[in-house]
Amino acid sequence: MAAALLEGKDITVTFGRGAEAFDAVHVANVAVHAGEAVGIVGESGSGKTTLARVLVGLQRPTAGEVWLEGERIFTRRHQQMPRSERWKTQIIFQDPYSSLNPRMRVWQAVAEAVQVWQSLSKPEAKLEALQLLHAMGISDDQAQQFPKALSGGQRQRVSVARALAPGPKVLIADEPTSSIDQSAQAQLLNLLRQLQTARGLAIIFISHDLGLVRYLTSRVYVMQKGDIVETGDTRLILEQPEHSYTRLLIDSIPGR
Ligand SMILES: Nc1ncnc2c1ncn2[C@@H]1O[C@H](COP(=O)(O)OP(=O)(O)OP(=O)(O)O)[C@@H](O)[C@H]1O
Ligand SMILES: [Mg+2]
Repeated sequence: MAAALLEGKDITVTFGRGAEAFDAVHVANVAVHAGEAVGIVGESGSGKTTLARVLVGLQRPTAGEVWLEGERIFTRRHQQMPRSERWKTQIIFQDPYSSLNPRMRVWQAVAEAVQVWQSLSKPEAKLEALQLLHAMGISDDQAQQFPKALSGGQRQRVSVARALAPGPKVLIADEPTSSIDQSAQAQLLNLLRQLQTARGLAIIFISHDLGLVRYLTSRVYVMQKGDIVETGDTRLILEQPEHSYTRLLIDSIPGR
C-alpha cells in the first residue's frame, strides 16, 4: 500500500500531573491515505477529539510523532509544519458555533478562509465562498447573515464550507453531524463522499453513530480509555467485532 498521507505514530497525550496524571491517548497509531475515509469510534471520553487535535497540531503530544506526506511535522518538541502548509489538514468540530466568528457575515468567514490560502482578489474569494456555501445548501440570502441568524445545522454546514475553502488534502470531521437533522446529515455525508472520490480527499470521521461510520468509512479504529483496542475493515468490525468493548458499543446503539 502507498505511504500514508497523514499518520500518527505511537501518540500519547498525558493530562494532569503526579497522582492526577492520566493518558487521554495512549500509544495510538492511526493513518489515512489519499482518497480514503477512516472512522474513529469509542465512548465519550475515550480520547477521540484529543487524538484528532494532535493530528492537526492543536494539541502537543506527550510522546509520539505526526507525519504528513512522508515528513515528520509534530512531536513533543517540534511543531514543524510551516504555516504555508497548514491548509493541507483541516478539522471540523463538534460545536459549530464556537468555530465561527459572530461578528463576521457567513460569506466573509468563508471568503477569509479562501483568501488566507489562495491568492485571490476579494471579489474572486467572495464568489468562491458563495459557491462553496451553495454546495453545502446555504443560499445567497443566508450567506449575508451573521452566524446567530442561522440554525445549528446551517452553521455546521458553514463550518464545513470554511474547512473546505483551502482545498485540504485531509479533513478531520469530529462529530460533524451531531447538531444537524437527518436530511442535512445525508447532504453532508454525500458531499464528503463526493470530495473523497472526485478530489481524493482523505477523511477521518469521528462519530458515535456507527451507521454513519459504516456508510462513509472503509476502515475504523475503536478507542477505549485512550487505547485503540481494535482496528480494521469497517464492515467486518461492525459485523464481527473481536473485542468485547466493540460489541458493547454496537449493542448500545439505540433501537437495536
Ligand atoms: N485540555 C484537557 N485537560 C485535561 N483533560 C482533558 C483535556 N482535554 C480532554 N481531557 C480529558 O481527556 C479525556 C478524553 O477526552 P476527549 O475529548 O478526547 O474524548 P472524546 O472521545 O472526544 O469524547 P466525546 O465522545 O465525549 O467527544 C477525557 O477524560 C477528558 O476529560
Ligand atoms: Mg470528542
